[in-house]
Amino acid sequence: MYEKEYSIIEKKIENLNMDDSLSFVCEFLQKNIKGYDWVGYYFHNDENQLVLKTYFGLKTDHTIIPFGKGICGQTAESNTHMIVDDVNNEENYISCNINVKSEIVVPLFSNNINIGQIDIDSNTLSRFKLDDLKFLKKVNILISKKI
Ligand code: SME
Repeated sequence: MYEKEYSIIEKKIENLNMDDSLSFVCEFLQKNIKGYDWVGYYFHNDENQLVLKTYFGLKTDHTIIPFGKGICGQTAESNTHMIVDDVNNEENYISCNINVKSEIVVPLFSNNINIGQIDIDSNTLSRFKLDDLKFLKKVNILISKKI
């Protein structure tokens, strides 16, 4: 699944720098994949926080998230992805808008170090499956080559 989308991203960002690649990926995924309603990249800073660098979708207040807080903050500490089928069942969750029902966060590694993450919100329950995870891991590998 998502072979077509992956090859479009691969070709398009081949000659783009990091910032333009991130912007393209966020906008492309949000516009072209059903149920990817908010797509953003957060990066770690030196103060154990995640800083929102690029996103496409509704404006969010959560531009800085401490490690450990929310789905994003948990991934920053665990170094592993999270898929949440129903955000209403999560105690450690930061709501960006009331329409969001499910979420996926996939860490971004550079030389095996977790430096950030892609975060996608969906207004559909249980939107994210193994195919989404595999696809987003591959997209993050493409992004990590820009670092
Ligand atoms: N829901 C995330 C916060 C980021 S927003 O979805 C843009 C979380 O719980 O970490």
